[in-house]
Amino acid sequence: MDYDVKDIKLAAQGKLKIEWAEATMPVLRLIKKRFKRQRPLLGTRITACLHVTTETANLVKTLQAGGAEVRLCASNPLSTQDEVAASLVQHDGIAVFAIRGEDNKTYYRHIQSAIEHQPQITMDDGADVVSMLHSKRKDLLKHVLGGTEETTTGVIRLRSMADRHVLKFPVISVNDADTKHLFDNRYGTGQSTMDGIIRSTNRLVCGSTVVVAGYGWCGRGVATRAKGLGANVIVTEVEPVKALEALMDGYRVLPMEEAAAVGDFFITLTGNLKVIRKEHFARMKDGAIVCNSGHFNVELDIPALDRLSRKRRMVRPGVEEFTLRNGRRISLLGEGRLVNLALAEGHPSSVMDMSFANQALAAEYLVNHHKKLENKVYPVSQEIDKEIARLKLAGIGIGIDTLTKEQKKYLASWEMGT
Ligand code: ADE
Repeated sequence: MDYDVKDIKLAAQGKLKIEWAEATMPVLRLIKKRFKRQRPLLGTRITACLHVTTETANLVKTLQAGGAEVRLCASNPLSTQDEVAASLVQHDGIAVFAIRGEDNKTYYRHIQSAIEHQPQITMDDGADVVSMLHSKRKDLLKHVLGGTEETTTGVIRLRSMADRHVLKFPVISVNDADTKHLFDNRYGTGQSTMDGIIRSTNRLVCGSTVVVAGYGWCGRGVATRAKGLGANVIVTEVEPVKALEALMDGYRVLPMEEAAAVGDFFITLTGNLKVIRKEHFARMKDGAIVCNSGHFNVELDIPALDRLSRKRRMVRPGVEEFTLRNGRRISLLGEGRLVNLALAEGHPSSVMDMSFANQALAAEYLVNHHKKLENKVYPVSQEIDKEIARLKLAGIGIGIDTLTKEQKKYLASWEMGT
């Protein structure tokens, strides 16, 4: 079998970790059980370009249980868990092309290898497979029934393709499901981002000033966790409504220009480029720590930081210290790539359970309904979204109330008033 992983001997270690994650993925476990029985993806070729983590391993194994032929590559050069990649090859016979720390050339070569089986379904986290199929490998487009997209940044790219009528197959935006972004983006990013910062720096968060750039679901999650750890949180925003929300959620809201001078930690989660630039780095305090938890490594202007500096050195694993010409030191975490995956293990399995339940059910939906879909970006259906929430609650043993007949009637009526 074709594959490219760091070291196949890591497989046993990877298997234990995959099982550990599976223990808190009850929804995906249920789907896997049904898929094994019903085989709804039988013979379907799926190229998955996702962070190669224990949680992704459980998704891929679920797709395989449904009868799919899956090839997997990484959606970020620094997020691969090499032992997980090895286990998927060794124990599950899945063709994996991913090595942690691979250079850009290898990253794209791995995507090329992963699409070699002529995918019928693409499963992206950042739209890199869709981009490849619409640029260098247009010849493969004819095989594709549809795709799924995991993340906000990818969905933005896809919507822009659909608006310009260049998208050549339908894509389901998993990110837009409530059971995805309300949990994964918020609580997953919140915890795993702080985890990456703490693991790599071992710095005390309480009493420090944490600057969170961007108050989308990810930014909200990080702000909440940083506040919970005792930090003074400053939010920077460009959207007035989000800025107001941040203010009324109890945070200071400042332009980056002002926040730059007072922050101890800076975390970007905007999906945009050059959010922290030369003029901001130049104002930072000695010892400031900067990182990114947005999808691409474009949010920090690292070349500008480099130009301001007279010295660069690695001071701890994943921590690079820049000494500026003004004598101040700024530490950059994880090369400005997703700090939660580069320096920690990504979102905990309990939230990825719902994200990946959406992925598995979206793949099944595409197989069953692709003929009536146009080349657009579609949401996950409300029934699927609600069902995942119901299954998750059942999986963790939480009961909720149901409406009485009288309450249903009341909600459906307009005559009843005071
Ligand atoms: N994105 C963020 N966390 C992740 C994880 N644990 N697995 C896959 N993709 C992720």
